[in-house]
Amino acid sequence: MDTYNEELGMRVPEHIAIILDGNGRWAKKRLMPRNYGHMQGSKAVELVCEEAYNIGVKYLTVYAFSTENWQRPSDEVQAIMKLLRNYLKDCIKTTSKNNMKVRILGDKAGLDDDIREQIDKLEKESSKNTGLNFQIAINYGSRDEMVRAMRRMSADIASGIIKESDITEETFSSYLDTRGIPDPDMIIRTSGEQRLSNFLMWQSAYSEFYFPEVLWPDFNRKELVKAIEAYNKRDRRYGKVKEK
Ligand code: FPP
Repeated sequence: MDTYNEELGMRVPEHIAIILDGNGRWAKKRLMPRNYGHMQGSKAVELVCEEAYNIGVKYLTVYAFSTENWQRPSDEVQAIMKLLRNYLKDCIKTTSKNNMKVRILGDKAGLDDDIREQIDKLEKESSKNTGLNFQIAINYGSRDEMVRAMRRMSADIASGIIKESDITEETFSSYLDTRGIPDPDMIIRTSGEQRLSNFLMWQSAYSEFYFPEVLWPDFNRKELVKAIEAYNKRDRRYGKVKEK
């Protein structure tokens, strides 16, 4: 549910999900290697977590690495994994201070052992925190998430844990990586691209979409407030007729 920020005079979405796009172009504009763009992009992630929480956002989800991103040149894949490793390691230290609860979405089985261990540690140690709920999608694809959910659901039917007649939208949601997390109220994709790219396809059924031109490393509090302003102008009806 939206909350109200008195200072901004605006409703604040409970859950914002962001497709981080434009790191490569940001670096190219500065005649720097793409990996430099990813490094600045990861700094922007940290900043936006802080700003979003200060503004009143309860859940923030970022798309850091998709199931398709493995097809990038291997030095770029390795550089992004290195950034994620460093980020996870720092996060283990900082979450007790900033009270952030971190969860990773995606197929962890496809990640290196050391990254999986760090994820387990971070998720466990931050699980009791009550501040920002921060989800990072790594080796995530919506289709893959739904297939993995279907497999687990089928196994539970075969072993009698659930019955076919128990399958509802709620049960299916509870098998997804996002179980227990409210659907995103707003999905932002930076850099002017207007695609969902296999991100939260089930969960975004009633999300508001926002596509600013800004490249991800330049995204900051001002851009976040602009996004929330746009959200406030939207008329969310969820398929119903607006009440007078
Ligand atoms: C999209 O820009 C960005 C990515 C695929 C990688 C995002 C990863 C990070 C910001 C690293 C760290 C993440 C966290 C959570 C700390 P692009 O390379 O597609 O840019 P382009 O479209 O301009 O080439």
